[in-house]
Amino acid sequence: MTPRETELIEAALQARARARAPYSQFQVGAAVLAGSGRIYTGCNVENASYGLTVCAERVALFKAVSEGESVFEALAVVTDAATPATPCGACRQVIWELCGDIPVVLASVAGRRETVRMAELLPRPFASSFLGERQREK
Ligand code: THU
Repeated sequence: MTPRETELIEAALQARARARAPYSQFQVGAAVLAGSGRIYTGCNVENASYGLTVCAERVALFKAVSEGESVFEALAVVTDAATPATPCGACRQVIWELCGDIPVVLASVAGRRETVRMAELLPRPFASSFLGERQREK
């Protein structure tokens, strides 16, 4: 674990404390290191209309983008699952598009840590390149 990664985990842990998870009780914190050197954090925000819930990872990333960031170096996710939880499929797609093949630090509140790369989490991603490859149907 690099000092920056440890800092990201700490930031994600603090954000997790602000999770709004009255339905699942599953609190998630995320933190992303942007090219500017700033760290942006997010927590999951649930809604009574369950499908409107937004995951911690997307909250962190959308905050960063809305503040003008466009380059990302690493992301951390913290949960209290015994096995450090991986980002959901929707978040993987968003992380891939905004961040590419960055390291993702998975951490548990109990202290387990693992770093994986996005390319491992999302092999053969859908990407904007497909949009330019359309062939006309007969
Ligand atoms: N959740 C996240 O915040 N990130 C993930 O990658 C997986 C799931 C949240 C969504 C919901 O509030 C709760 O965890 C249970 O699914």
